[in-house]
Amino acid sequence: MTVKTMQTADVKDLLEKVAGFNQDGGDERVKKIVHRFMHDVFQLIEDFDVTPEEFWQAVYYVGDLGKNGEAALLAPGLGMDKYLDIRMDAEDEQAGLAGGTPRTIEGPLYVAGAPMSEGFARMDDGSDENAETMILTGQVTDENGNPLVNAVVDVWHANTMGNYSYFDQSQSEYNLRRRIRTDENGRYTAQSIIPAGYGCPPEGSTQALLNLLGRHGNRPAHIHFFISKSGFKHLTTQINLAGDEYTYDDFAFATREELVVEANRIDDPAQAEGYGLNKPFTKVEFNIQLVSTDKPELQNRHERKRALEGEAA
Ligand code: BEZ
Ligand code: FE
Repeated sequence: MTVKTMQTADVKDLLEKVAGFNQDGGDERVKKIVHRFMHDVFQLIEDFDVTPEEFWQAVYYVGDLGKNGEAALLAPGLGMDKYLDIRMDAEDEQAGLAGGTPRTIEGPLYVAGAPMSEGFARMDDGSDENAETMILTGQVTDENGNPLVNAVVDVWHANTMGNYSYFDQSQSEYNLRRRIRTDENGRYTAQSIIPAGYGCPPEGSTQALLNLLGRHGNRPAHIHFFISKSGFKHLTTQINLAGDEYTYDDFAFATREELVVEANRIDDPAQAEGYGLNKPFTKVEFNIQLVSTDKPELQNRHERKRALEGEAA
């Protein structure tokens, strides 16, 4: 049975009271957003004739999502992080600040305060003896190709199981997380291990919804970056390694063509020696171009809840 009640005075009155329109206190913007949000939820219930069983299933789903700590995991899975990126790209375009290396989503697995190094950092703790050694290197420049000295390249990635230190308590502190200040040529170099792709917890709330959508919850092997320097737009980005099953099928929608990077096996002992290695390794090169701005609010990463943010050095 389909009933239509959205246009009735009862429902309109209910929505206004729900949003506190008849109260003096509170926040006007929040009131307007909650009014619109609840209106759209009610409308959805009407349009899809949502049953009480379906409704309560959804309510308890949201409760479980919170209990599992997966809200910030479901968001990228539903394209919300990507949508915010699309909006920020459009804002940059409008403000004449487009260009440079493209942004892509941060994801929920950053930890603030990784150790700082000058020019070079060893990122892995050496515990994964079967991992492929990675040399990750590149140059940070401005829009005209001039090297940027003392830019901070904050890098983080998963281990060979697709797990991130801090969230995976079996790993050592700040394993696979480092900040590197670029050298006099604007270059940074990291020795680390080739990561594996990330997969959503198979029994978690995010994967449960993805299953209902006929979707997988996998990401390709990827490496995250925050790059910052005073006078330049802060850049949040990541590279997806070419050749991964999920390079162009990332459940979190982070892939951008310009950010797909080849991982090249190097067997030449002379090149290995150049990096202080005595075995073949895989080289990943990622050059970064920043866009200048005098707007201080664009020079820092936007605020969000992050592990150890505000606590670590
Ligand atoms: C990640 O960066 O690994 C990630 C991003 C979005 C959702 C889950 C994980
Ligand atoms: Fe990641």
